[in-house]
Amino acid sequence: MREPFFYDITLRDGNQSLKKPWQLNEKCYIFERLHELNVQAVEVGFPASSHMDFEACKTLADMAWNNLIISALARTVQKDIDAVVESISHAQIPRVHTFLTLSPFHMKYVLNREPQYCAKKAIEAVKYANDKIKKINKNAQIQFSVEHFGDCSQNLDFVIDTLKEITKAGADVINLPNTVERTRPAVFIEMVKKVKKALGDNVIISLHNHNDLGMATATTVEGYFAGAGQLECCLNGLGERAGNTDFAQVAVALHNNGVKVPVNLDKIYEISLIISQMSKTPIYEKAPLIGPEALAHRSGIHQDGAIKTKDMEFGAYRPIKPSLIGRKDDEKIGFTSQSGKSAVYEIINNAGYPVTIDEAVRLTPIVKEISEQKGELGTNEILKVYFDEILNVKGAFELVSFKHTSGDEFKLEFKFKGEYKTAAGCGNGPLDACLDALKNAGFPRKLSHYKQYALDEDKMGSGATAMSVINLIGKKGEEIIGRAIDQNTAKANVKAIFNALNQVYK
Ligand code: KIV
Ligand code: ZN
Repeated sequence: MREPFFYDITLRDGNQSLKKPWQLNEKCYIFERLHELNVQAVEVGFPASSHMDFEACKTLADMAWNNLIISALARTVQKDIDAVVESISHAQIPRVHTFLTLSPFHMKYVLNREPQYCAKKAIEAVKYANDKIKKINKNAQIQFSVEHFGDCSQNLDFVIDTLKEITKAGADVINLPNTVERTRPAVFIEMVKKVKKALGDNVIISLHNHNDLGMATATTVEGYFAGAGQLECCLNGLGERAGNTDFAQVAVALHNNGVKVPVNLDKIYEISLIISQMSKTPIYEKAPLIGPEALAHRSGIHQDGAIKTKDMEFGAYRPIKPSLIGRKDDEKIGFTSQSGKSAVYEIINNAGYPVTIDEAVRLTPIVKEISEQKGELGTNEILKVYFDEILNVKGAFELVSFKHTSGDEFKLEFKFKGEYKTAAGCGNGPLDACLDALKNAGFPRKLSHYKQYALDEDKMGSGATAMSVINLIGKKGEEIIGRAIDQNTAKANVKAIFNALNQVYK
């Protein structure tokens, strides 16, 4: 399948929509980022619009890397075309990009001109640009844009006839903008196909879609599959009104559909953050791919699928592996009343505290209830419940003290349903001795498993860095896990036994 050709318009269409258009040094910085992305063409500005933009076009043409097309915008007037030629013709491959509307509405109500007048003006401008720049640089190219092409369904035959003349006059690329997104993707693409068929394969068809109804990516992606060679995109979807076609969305959508995309996708995320800062245009929370929430899961079903597939190339609830676009952050699991046990399990384990899925099931209704009032819970709020419910289980037993008396003997003091009890026990270490004391007090329990975990760090300020885990056999032969942390490991073991007992004796 042919490779798409990415024509970046961040420095022109993106720039012209900013509250404070970029200065020369800012344009240079972004240009370098575009180099990192490896775009195939950059529209560096509109040199006739200001002295600053003229200088920027000139400088960026100097900075162009090998085989990059440097394009600059001009209305179909000689002074604009002269400004483009003067500012960029020294580039390896300069391109004059001139445009005029051929839409019936725009010609009548904005330009107050007859169609034939507009057609003639466009053809003459292309001829002028072609003669002028190709004399200076034989690699030069001409691009003509039918501004408001999306509004040309009624006079498409006239547009096609004019474009035939325009290509004869020297245009190498015909750009078909959906200048204001009024035409839906399928209808727009049918129009593009008609133009492509009429002009043949010697002319490159380009798409430039604005995003007024949020369908620009769809139109551009489908336009590529319908035969468009050049795709005009803007970083972070900047541009007039609701912006232009978003670069990242198009590149990733094509990649996901098996197209070899000739850009460095792994640069996208970092550059998007830079562009957001430099344009003072925050990335909205739900922005596809790059939004802070674009990889967040809050529903229990989605969290379960996301967790089960998190290390896989294809994820249950994500369009890409975050690393594809250079995102380092994982899929975010945010706990709310809509969330479930998998999230509890994941959040606690990720915080460095071991928990089993059965324990997570026990905690889930408690944290859900808290979240009903508070909304999304932070990790520490979930850990607090874990501390209260798992590391400090309330029940019939209450530990008062456990002391070494002599040799292998220990004394256990505790309350059972409020009644003070004391018992001595001995054994091979404090854990054994505690179980022995409990047996002597009338509460025999078998130990099936014992483990100590090192905790990554003491996150909850308890001072403990290790956790004791003991498994006792319950009344019906089931395993009961008791966990506890303490600076003193013997005490942690005893507390863990009591935390297990309290699950049996409520
Ligand atoms: O949106 C548009 O039609 C344009 C043209 C100048 C290509 O930006
Ligand atoms: Zn535009």
